[in-house]
Amino acid sequence: MSTQSANIKDVKKVTTHVLQAMKERGEKITMLTAYDFTMAKIIDDAGIEVILVGDSASNVIAGHETTLPITLDQMIYHASSVIRAVRRALVVVDLPFGSYQVNSSEALRSAIRIMKESGAHAVKMEGGSEIKESVTRILSAGVPVMGHLGLTPQSIYKFGTYVVRAKEKEEANQLIENARLLQELGCFAIVLEKIPAVLAQKVSETLTIPVIGIGAGPSTDGQVLVTHDMLGLNREFQPRFLRKYADLYSVINNAVKKYIKNIKELDFPNKKECY
Ligand code: KIV
Repeated sequence: MSTQSANIKDVKKVTTHVLQAMKERGEKITMLTAYDFTMAKIIDDAGIEVILVGDSASNVIAGHETTLPITLDQMIYHASSVIRAVRRALVVVDLPFGSYQVNSSEALRSAIRIMKESGAHAVKMEGGSEIKESVTRILSAGVPVMGHLGLTPQSIYKFGTYVVRAKEKEEANQLIENARLLQELGCFAIVLEKIPAVLAQKVSETLTIPVIGIGAGPSTDGQVLVTHDMLGLNREFQPRFLRKYADLYSVINNAVKKYIKNIKELDFPNKKECY
C-alpha cells in the first residue's frame, strides 16, 4: 500500500462537526469542486476537506453559459460518481435551479432524492429569507444544508452580470441579515461568493458556523474554487480571485499533439507495445 493511501485511511471522515471544530480552533477549511469519479479520487487522496458537486458542472462539463440548465437527475449522476471515489471528504451537492424554488415540498423531495440516490452527505442552496421555509423543512428531515450568498449564479438573469455583489451598504446589510438567518435556521456552513473582503470578514466574525469564500478575500474560515479553473483547464476564465495552480490545458494539449505526431510517424505503437 502506498504511503498516500495509508495516510488517507488513517484520517477520520470529515463531517459537519469536524468543520465546526476547525472553525473553532481557527484552522482554515479547504473545498474544491468535482463532478466525476477520477477527479474526486485525486482530490480526496490529496486531503481536501469538502468536495462540492457544484451546479457549475453545467458550465464546466456541459458547456452551458449558465448554471440554470442542469437538471436534478444530472446532479444525481455527477454526485453518485463522486461518492463512489471519496473515502474522507464531506461531499456537498448543489440543489440545481428549479428543484427547490417552487415550494418547500418540492425542495424537500429534491434534497431527499440527492441524499438517497447519490449517497451524498449534504446539500447546498442559493439564497436567504426567500428560501427560509425550504431550508427549514430540509433540515428537519435530517439533511445538512450549506447556504450560498453574495453572487448566486442561479439568479444571474436577475443580477444581469457576474460583477462583485454587496458593495453598497443596503445590499451588504441584507447579506449579513440573511447569513444570520441561515445560521439560526441551522445551516452548518455558508459559501460567500464574490463580495468585498471586508464584508466577508465581518460575516465570518459574526457567525459561529464556518464561512467558505470564493472571491471573498482571505478572512473567511475556508476557501473554495472550481477545480477545472484552478488547474488551468479553462483558458478563457481569468477572474481576479482565481489563482491557477497548474496549466493542465497546455499539459493535455501537448500530450495530444505528441500522440498525433507519434501515430502519423508510425512510432506508436512500437514492438514493446504489441502482443
Ligand atoms: O457550483 C459551484 O461550483 C459553486 C462554487 C462556485 C461555490 O457553487
